Amino acid sequence: MAFDFLVENIAQQKQRARYRVRQCVAEQNGRHVKINDVTYLNFSSNDYLGLNHHPEINQALLEGAERFGTCASGSSLITGYSYAHQALENEICDWLNQPKCLLFASGFSANSALMQALGHKSCQLYLDKLSHASLIDGALSSEAKVKRFLHNDITQLERFIVQSQSAANSDINSIDDEINRVIVSEGVFSMDGDQADIANLSKIAQQYQALFYVDDAHSIGVVGDKGQGSSSMANVDVVMATFGKSIATSGAFVACDENLAEYLVNFSRHYIYSTAISPALAWATKKSIELIQTQHWRREKITELSHLLESKLSEKVQLIKNASSIHAIVIGDEMATLDVCQKLRDRGIWLSAIRPPTVPNNSSRLRVTVTSSHEIKDINYLADCINEVIE
Ligand SMILES: Cc1ncc(COP(=O)(O)O)c(C=O)c1O
Repeated sequence: MAFDFLVENIAQQKQRARYRVRQCVAEQNGRHVKINDVTYLNFSSNDYLGLNHHPEINQALLEGAERFGTCASGSSLITGYSYAHQALENEICDWLNQPKCLLFASGFSANSALMQALGHKSCQLYLDKLSHASLIDGALSSEAKVKRFLHNDITQLERFIVQSQSAANSDINSIDDEINRVIVSEGVFSMDGDQADIANLSKIAQQYQALFYVDDAHSIGVVGDKGQGSSSMANVDVVMATFGKSIATSGAFVACDENLAEYLVNFSRHYIYSTAISPALAWATKKSIELIQTQHWRREKITELSHLLESKLSEKVQLIKNASSIHAIVIGDEMATLDVCQKLRDRGIWLSAIRPPTVPNNSSRLRVTVTSSHEIKDINYLADCINEVIE
């Protein structure tokens, strides 16, 4: 029958314990989530700084809707680019100390756009093996040569660069100077929660005249004294971050130099052929970023609670230790991971099972996110329950 693959692939997904369903959330904040009339402690939220529902951000959303409208009513190159968007871009440029900023509908779209824009046929893109799907899809659909180095393995990255240099030098039709290189990493990795070695990646980028691109989706707001993310640690040429996590709105930005920004405005199909983000939301996002820069206690609380969790988990729990909001507990098998999730749910804890293909085979896991809305007693309870249900 036509389109048999739809049914067949779903059946296979169920058989492999990889079947996914959505849960309709009635209410949520960084601490609780209400699903099917049950309120759980929420350890799956990306609202790391607990800013969703913040009254000043809600107020800015209302004000933005009244002044600029809920809808941009056009793409940025037609009539969609308003004062609200410009003010948000300027705020981000000042925050990250970058010359230019452009807004995108989502982080997925921004990453795809940038990989395609930078992925000219003269380019080599070097991506960390654990890069987000949007980076991989964007890179593979570009005209560039794509190399993926082992996760956080700077030695292998450098070897790849040196190999491509020697290959170019031995090819009489090619002059190495003509290879444009881009090193791509996440600041904090979404499924492991560990940080990239930003300082050394930046050094390698400078040494080989490569452009350094960082997806800061999980670092923005959380890393840096004012929450500016990876660019607070070293020179980063292009920063992408989504508004949908610690910033607590929706959409994304790319901060970069004037040349790249101008190129994107002229050639990026994702930018040109898409309605600009809601100006009301842009206005609310600007307010959120203002709060993030000054409310240091939110970052400090994440650090404090994360240390507490780490200290309370028993040794049999395979925790990937790190300094971010994301704490991965690797179980391995898909069925076993689902079973642990269900047992935690029975104890009033909401945690999602992360399974392949989102993570490599046999590395299914619980992805615990600690937010600044959690309390010490929440973390103690979570650790007790995890110690009890993981054998
Ligand atoms: C590392 C990373 N990059 C990009 C994205 C995509 O951002 P958005 O949700 O705004 O599309 C996500 C997740 O959502 C992510 O985890």
